[in-house]
Amino acid sequence: MKPRAIKPNVSWVGAVDWDRRLFDALIPLPDGTSYNAYLVQGSQKVALIDTVDPSMTEILTGYLEDVPAVDYVIANHGEQDHSGSIPRVLARYPDAKVVTTPKGKDVLAALLRMPEGKFITVTDGETLSLGDKTLEFIHAPWVHWPETMLTYLREERILFACDLFGSHLATTDLYVIDEGQAYEAAKRYYAEIMMPFRTSIEKHLQRLKDYELDIIAPSHGPLHKKASFILQAYRTWVLDPPKNVVVLPYISMHGSTQKMVEYFVAALVGRGVTVKQFNLAGTDLGKLAMALVDAATMVIGTPTVLVGPHPHVASAAFLANALRPGLQFVSIIGSYGWGSKAVEQLAGMIPNLKAQVLDPVISKGLPGEEDLKALDNLAKTIAEKHKERGFA
Ligand code: FEO
Repeated sequence: MKPRAIKPNVSWVGAVDWDRRLFDALIPLPDGTSYNAYLVQGSQKVALIDTVDPSMTEILTGYLEDVPAVDYVIANHGEQDHSGSIPRVLARYPDAKVVTTPKGKDVLAALLRMPEGKFITVTDGETLSLGDKTLEFIHAPWVHWPETMLTYLREERILFACDLFGSHLATTDLYVIDEGQAYEAAKRYYAEIMMPFRTSIEKHLQRLKDYELDIIAPSHGPLHKKASFILQAYRTWVLDPPKNVVVLPYISMHGSTQKMVEYFVAALVGRGVTVKQFNLAGTDLGKLAMALVDAATMVIGTPTVLVGPHPHVASAAFLANALRPGLQFVSIIGSYGWGSKAVEQLAGMIPNLKAQVLDPVISKGLPGEEDLKALDNLAKTIAEKHKERGFA
């Protein structure tokens, strides 16, 4: 394939990974992904903005076959899906320098074992002239690593945002066409990657108000010609209050917890609360992460395995804790046969969730009348608390 023109002398030279199904050996990629790299050819100098995952280096170097010189490789982010092909690019262009933040230099030197003399570090707001084109570097720490920056091409008003505003979506479309699909993919990406850093992202969103943005060009997924679409979506995810939603990740082994979940869900729905339930025996963890973006409450359902929570439930709780969603309330429901410390163990796994803990409901064996009454009370408490806080 030929480089795909975005503006005169600005091209997409990335790779679409249709077949990748897991990122970080953890995050499901139901729709594959892309690694977007961009070539900016000025009247005097040429810059390559980010590279591609090392598994697809040949695709990038194929695009560069007719490019005699690259003077700068702009490394917005050190993670290997964007930086991993830098050594091969430098091998082809031995005089090229890697432009990054001071922290980016540390990260890249460690991850890629690159020599000191290869780097140019840039300060926040510093510019680099390519002749008739100017790159401005905007330090943007914690999207989602500490070394990250964004690169703004002033003359064309393009923001090369790296992971920020990205989506794991393999497509032949250079730009977003189907906004519904793009919203879903970008929200999934935000939930899995960006949500823990939303305080930093809020600051970056504020700062970007000072920039005219004709195109937002992330490092994953299609580009945004309508910048307001993705900016508004991010504002919603970062700033909006939680919704009248309970997220219920659970598992059941012999049916007791299942029965509790079904009863509890009906009790919540009857009180006007939306429930998103995820049976962890086969759920897509990305869907669970997305649900956590908006939910006011999470109730974890678990049977007892060897005195503790089911390992799949423990894993989901660990993930929810790491993603730091804006949950306001949490609780636990579940069952045991002969003894359980599941509640204590689960509670100890979610210290990052700054949420009020509501009384758990744990049944010995199949839930009896008292257990069902306790589930009703928990549902009533949740509905009332959501109403008190104005969650709609
Ligand atoms: Fe797409 Fe943080 O790498």
